[in-house]
Amino acid sequence: MEKRINLLKDETFLQHPFVVAIILFLGLVMMDPFHLGPVSEHEFRPVKHDIAPYHQVMKNWPRDNISRLGLHGKSEFKNEVFGPESLEFDNMGHGPYAGLADGRIVRWMGEELGWETFAVVTSNWTEKLCFRDNDSTTAKQWKHEKTCGRPLGLRFDKVSGDLYIADAYYGLLVVGPNGGLATPLATHVEGKPILFANDLDIHKNGSIFFTDTSKRYNRVAHFFILLEGEATGRLLRYDPPTKTTHVVLDGLAFPNGVQFSTDQSFLLFTETTNCRLMKLWLEGPRTGNVEVVANLPGFPDNVRINEKGQFWIAIDCCRTAAQEVLSHNPWLRNIYFRLPIRMSLLARVMGMRMYTVISLVDENGKVLEVLEDREGEVMKLVSEVKEENGKLWIGTVAHNHIATLPYP
Ligand SMILES: *[C@@H]1O[C@H](CO)[C@@H](O)[C@H](O)[C@H]1NC(C)=O
Ligand SMILES: *[C@@H]1O[C@H](CO)[C@@H](O)[C@H](O)[C@H]1NC(C)=O
Ligand SMILES: *[C@@H]1O[C@H](CO)[C@@H](O)[C@H](O)[C@H]1NC(C)=O
Ligand SMILES: *[C@@H]1O[C@H](CO)[C@@H](O)[C@H](O)[C@H]1NC(C)=O
Repeated sequence: MEKRINLLKDETFLQHPFVVAIILFLGLVMMDPFHLGPVSEHEFRPVKHDIAPYHQVMKNWPRDNISRLGLHGKSEFKNEVFGPESLEFDNMGHGPYAGLADGRIVRWMGEELGWETFAVVTSNWTEKLCFRDNDSTTAKQWKHEKTCGRPLGLRFDKVSGDLYIADAYYGLLVVGPNGGLATPLATHVEGKPILFANDLDIHKNGSIFFTDTSKRYNRVAHFFILLEGEATGRLLRYDPPTKTTHVVLDGLAFPNGVQFSTDQSFLLFTETTNCRLMKLWLEGPRTGNVEVVANLPGFPDNVRINEKGQFWIAIDCCRTAAQEVLSHNPWLRNIYFRLPIRMSLLARVMGMRMYTVISLVDENGKVLEVLEDREGEVMKLVSEVKEENGKLWIGTVAHNHIATLPYP
């Protein structure tokens, strides 16, 4: 297997025999006669998507060759938190709070009390049905998470102390400073259910901007969004005075993290499939314009501001040359992912052995810091980096701990 991966990384090999080999399968698997391929239950429609050229991005991206995050980072709270995607601190600086794969939002109460359940997003939540300990981040949770909830984005309103939640199944919700059962705010837009709310930020006028990752796939099926390259994601806005939800941007490819700038003249959001950080202007002459801020070496998740107004991006790294060929040739993906082979194997052949990269950028996308954990020593499948009190707090969607690193 290792050998195959190396061969595929070599492009001269890639451009011809790889394509030819794939074509040999064409007649047999195109129709997936035995329904064995990984995508066979879905109506899989790969499309071309708007991703910057691989070589250009990788050539210019600074590397952390000594893997400083892996070297100096610390893995904490092992088997105490399960898939803590988003990390947040309340108005008193207490925390972190974390949204877990078992549907709960928990908060750290200090060494003596440990983690306590702070809120849940649905009255459906019961310990018996939803609490699966460190199995919460495995496939065992998949058929329950629709009922139990999966809080992905967390933000405290600095004025009211209320916690706003983007839940992958229950949409946008809010819970008071004492926690409990959250109240739904936005579950539908334009008359249809919001399928995959992902992250949010709060405007000073009270409106909540949040991402809805896809109109077609929910969180459990998120891998298909990446494979298809489909762009049905949206940026939405909930206005409290009228209790209405509006489409701000449509046609996005896996919109994920959201973050306002300090003065709120613009907001940044990540487009995971396109490996990039985007900017939407909200004030000034460019109001309404959408711009690419940075093309990234891998797949970004959340983006969070620090006190200096700079932005931390969590990135599953890196893109590969093989994946680029598939990106540009939807018909190849159509065949490749219909092969009657396990998805994990297909992904490995593509060279998708991801590791953690976190990066700090300024508002124009200038890279200020790159920290890597190449061997996944303290973090894998990174989801968020939150700078708070001289530390980076680093979350993950699929593992059962938090990583920290003293910073700066
Ligand atoms: C890191 O390694 C790459 C190749 O392995 C090299 O091109 C680059 O100059 C190195 N960067 C630093 C900062 O040493
Ligand atoms: C899950 O947690 C238990 C203790 O609660 C531990 O013994 C076990 O090793 C953990 N499993 C994994 C995969 O970390
Ligand atoms: C309970 O979960 C089901 C889906 O599993 C959902 O349709 C229903 O709306 C949920 N009820 C509440 C009160 O959240
Ligand atoms: C708040 O400001 C945003 C950005 O300018 C705007 O789109 C939204 O409509 C405003 N909300 C309210 C309630 O005025």
